[in-house]
Amino acid sequence: MAMSRLISLPALPYAEDALAPVVSARTVALHYGKHHRTYVENLNRLIDGTELEGHSLEEIMAMTADHADKTEIFNNAAQTWNHDFYWRSLSPHGGGRPQGELADRVESTFGSYDGFRKAFAKAAQSQFGSGWVWLVEDSGALTVVKTGNAELPRARGQRPLATVDVWEHAYYLDYYNRRVDYVDSVLEKLLDWTFVLENLAEDKNLSLFGEKAHAA
Ligand SMILES: [Fe+2]
Repeated sequence: MAMSRLISLPALPYAEDALAPVVSARTVALHYGKHHRTYVENLNRLIDGTELEGHSLEEIMAMTADHADKTEIFNNAAQTWNHDFYWRSLSPHGGGRPQGELADRVESTFGSYDGFRKAFAKAAQSQFGSGWVWLVEDSGALTVVKTGNAELPRARGQRPLATVDVWEHAYYLDYYNRRVDYVDSVLEKLLDWTFVLENLAEDKNLSLFGEKAHAA
């Protein structure tokens, strides 16, 4: 049997009930099993039989970004990537304060760990409609940014370190309209600082978009 030339849905890195009660099993089942899966299925339907088939997810994003006739493909590819990054930003063993050198960087950037939490909450509150809140490294400095819909910081030359999905489907069943409560609980109980450290050490995060973003 030939190897699939399409994109597969990455496995969830923990059980569906592992993030409860901060994010319920019901929300994860729906968010991963329906929303995330649908982005992957839509993407595969759109690239099947085209020149994009057989390329990696990251290549597809780079090849369709800023192409007006490929917006639907880019949006589904970016949402596929963003969701995988979101699941890996959370851990049932996460939360609490960062340690060591990372703690120093967070404190010097945001004034304190609480200042970091407030910056994240403010970004979540001020993102009008659907989107994402991110901890990124931009020109060597930590910062919190927000993006709308499927947009991602790499297209701006920023290195993503962690993200929280602020589309309503991420929190509505558990928090109704209380987006900031959801975001702050996720930071307090689930944010995986180990994942942040891995991304800080990673060189490839900017490889595909970096050149273009800096040339823009
Ligand atoms: Fe989502």
